[in-house]
Amino acid sequence: MNIDISSVQSFLDPSVVKATQEEVKKAHKALWDGSIKGSDFLGWRDMEAVNEDTLAAIEARVQRWKTSIDVLVVIGIGGSYLGAQAAMDALRGYFEASPVEIIFAGHQLSGAYLEALLKKLENQRFAINVISKSGTTTEPAVAFRLLKQALEKRGLNTQDYIVATTDANVGALRQLADQEGYETFVVPDDIGGRYSVFSAVGLLPMAMAGIDIRAFLAGAKAQVEALKPYREDNPAVVYATTRQALYRQGKKIEIFVHYEPKLHFTAEWWKQLFGESEGKDGQGIFVSSAGFSTDLHSLGQMIQEGEKIFFETVVNITEPLSSLTIPSDAGNLDGLNYLSGRTIDDVNQQAQLATRIAHVDGNVPNLLVEIPRLDPYHYGGLLYFYCVACALSGAASGVNPFDQPGVEAYKTNMFALLGKPGFEAQTQALKARIKK
Ligand code: PA5
Repeated sequence: MNIDISSVQSFLDPSVVKATQEEVKKAHKALWDGSIKGSDFLGWRDMEAVNEDTLAAIEARVQRWKTSIDVLVVIGIGGSYLGAQAAMDALRGYFEASPVEIIFAGHQLSGAYLEALLKKLENQRFAINVISKSGTTTEPAVAFRLLKQALEKRGLNTQDYIVATTDANVGALRQLADQEGYETFVVPDDIGGRYSVFSAVGLLPMAMAGIDIRAFLAGAKAQVEALKPYREDNPAVVYATTRQALYRQGKKIEIFVHYEPKLHFTAEWWKQLFGESEGKDGQGIFVSSAGFSTDLHSLGQMIQEGEKIFFETVVNITEPLSSLTIPSDAGNLDGLNYLSGRTIDDVNQQAQLATRIAHVDGNVPNLLVEIPRLDPYHYGGLLYFYCVACALSGAASGVNPFDQPGVEAYKTNMFALLGKPGFEAQTQALKARIKK
């Protein structure tokens, strides 16, 4: 993997870069010697969380389900689903029908969605992989209750159709799984949700989708060796330094840009990773995303000529994904014959280059992150790179990149409004505020 910051240099103040580099260097040392803030959550760092037994158990479960179900419903929210969703979108072909359809649920609270899902599943053989590290999150718990009851009504042995991925010892889901005798996979204590894609959280749904999870893990492991030594040109160090330096110079918003719709959910995964890791203590780069060229026809105007608070990080896949060419047309009424014989991917690459030049001219710094191919090996490496870079960037800004205390605020209010036992005082306080 490669990072190119040549289209950022002119925006950077060397003294800011130097100071930032020092902080990232300290963060790098702290990440690898284990003294980083939140060091209880470094289980992902060495890529040793998943052993051969777990991989074999995942593969055995996939073998069983491959022929016994039509649909796998993966229930989870945040870090408990985004990695799998991102990898599946990135690594499977467009419109590719897999033998087992995979559907996500429990990642929002839409009654209409769950009602439609239950209806759809009525005549299908389905199974559930319910994923919740805490085992107490409301969204997946609601979806699981409904889907579990739908399975139970069929009189099936639910142990064949439900697998829980959760904490080894605590939480309502662990208790339920033990009581019902479900097969379980463990989310290790020292891995937070958004860093959990390399554990059974990401791997079981990915394997069910036909993704080569061993290649995915191998790609990530190769990056451990590449990113562990401190060097100024270490890609994670360069990325963390550049984005933090830009932030300190007023570029408050980073846009993850891709030119391949398959990367839409990679952007969503990335937003959760960086947003939850860095947005605290009244600071943090606001993370957003855009899929070009689609969004050049919506956000493009704002990026080109709006307030200069953005920078972009373009994720590029060097090897073309397709060799489809634009045909020539005798009438040429659409005027496209000048492109005939060129691949659409080449046109897409030119759009990328043209946009980069235009946005840099419009005072929007552009970073480029490149992987050679969109395959499990390089994709695993890319996600691992982001995990390391995020830890460095967060630690360099002084925050704990592994906690998310701010997520509790909405939950407390929601529980209070819904009348959850134990939240009586908050219910009173909120009701009084609402009346005013
Ligand atoms: O990254 C995180 O820690 C969060 O986004 C969690 O993954 C999310 O809140 C879901 O939590 P849980 O897996 O405990 O249900």
